Amino acid sequence: MEFSPPSKKCFPTKSKEDVADDERVYQGYRDLISSLPNEKGWISESLVLYQGFWYVSTISLQGAMAVQQHFKARPTDILLTSTPKSGTTWTKALIFAIINRTNYDFTTHPLLIHNPHDCVPTLETNLYRTTPIPNPDVLPSPRLFSTHIPYSSLPESITASNCRIIHICRNPKDVLISFWFFANKLQAKLNKDHPLLPLEEAFQLFCKGASPYGPYWDQVLGYWKASLEWPERILFLKYEGLKGNPFSCLKKLAEHLGYPFSLEEEEQGVVEKILNLCSFENLSSLDVNKNPEKVGNLGVENSAFYRKGQVGDWENHLTAEMVEHIDRITEQKFHGSGLSF
Ligand code: A3P
Repeated sequence: MEFSPPSKKCFPTKSKEDVADDERVYQGYRDLISSLPNEKGWISESLVLYQGFWYVSTISLQGAMAVQQHFKARPTDILLTSTPKSGTTWTKALIFAIINRTNYDFTTHPLLIHNPHDCVPTLETNLYRTTPIPNPDVLPSPRLFSTHIPYSSLPESITASNCRIIHICRNPKDVLISFWFFANKLQAKLNKDHPLLPLEEAFQLFCKGASPYGPYWDQVLGYWKASLEWPERILFLKYEGLKGNPFSCLKKLAEHLGYPFSLEEEEQGVVEKILNLCSFENLSSLDVNKNPEKVGNLGVENSAFYRKGQVGDWENHLTAEMVEHIDRITEQKFHGSGLSF
C-alpha cells in the first residue's frame, strides 16, 4: 500500500472566492487574538492567553480557533493529545505503526522515510494553521490526528463523539528542559539576531504557567480528570511508563485503540518489531530525521524532535532550588488528583 502524508490530501483546490472567504474567517481570528492578554514568548513571538491557556499566537492559536469552529470528529477518529515535549513524536510513531501493522512491511515502512509528524498531522499546526481551511473529510477511517489543545478547549464534536483519545504526558522538569532546548534551537534558526532564552528565564515563565499550551499542570490535569471520568474513551500514558515498560504499554495502547495484538502476533514478535521501529535509536538515526535539510511544514527541522530521549535529563540542568520550587508547584497542583511524578 502506497503511503502519502494525510495533510497533502486535505487541501483540494478552492476557487478564489472560497479562499477569500477563508481568509476573512482567519482575519477574524487575528483580530480577536490582537485583543487578548499577552506575555513574553520562549522564542521571538509572544504568548497569548486564550480560554485560560497560553498559545504561540499566529502559529497555534489561529489554528486552534479554526479547529474549534471547523473540525468535525468521527467516532472512528484517533486523537493523540499532549503537552509539547512529552513524547508526542514517539507516540505518533507508535500509534501509526499499530494501526497500520498489516498494511506495511517493517523493512519498507513509511516511518523509515517519513517523520512521524507527516504520518499523524497535528490539527492546529499542520492542518488548520493558515488558509485555505482544510477538508479532512476526504481521509479514510480511522483518521489519526494529534493536538496540544487543552481538554476544556476541544471542540464539542470531539468531546461528544466516541473517538479514542490517547494522552501522553511527562515529568514537568523534563518537559521544561526539553522545551528550553527546542525553543533555543528554533530561535537560532528562525531569528539569529534574537538572543537565546536563558534557562533561568524559561524556568520562571514555565513556573508561572506561561509556556506554550500551559500552564503545564492545568493542561495535564484536564486530560487526567477526563481519563478518570471516561476511561473507555481516554487513555492516559506517561513517557516514563513507556520508557520503563514499553511492552505492556504498547499492548495497552493497541487494546485501547481497538487493535489488540493477537497471540499469534505476539509469538511472531510484532510488538517488539513496532517498538524497535519506533525506538529513539532507530528513528533518530534515519536520514529523514537527522538530515538538517529535512524540514517539516512549520519550518522546523525534523531532527529538532530528537534530542536525548531519556528520563531525568533535568538533573543535568536544574539547580536544587529550581527542583524544589517546581516539585512544590507539582505537589500543590496535583494534590488530591491521584496524579504524581
Ligand atoms: P528530550 O528533549 O528530553 O530528548 P515531543 O515529541 O512531544 O516534541 O517530545 C520531544 C521529546 O521526546 C524529546 O525529548 C525527544 O528526544 C523525545 N523523543 C523523540 N522521539 C523519541 C522516541 N522515539 N523515543 C523516546 N523519546 C523520544
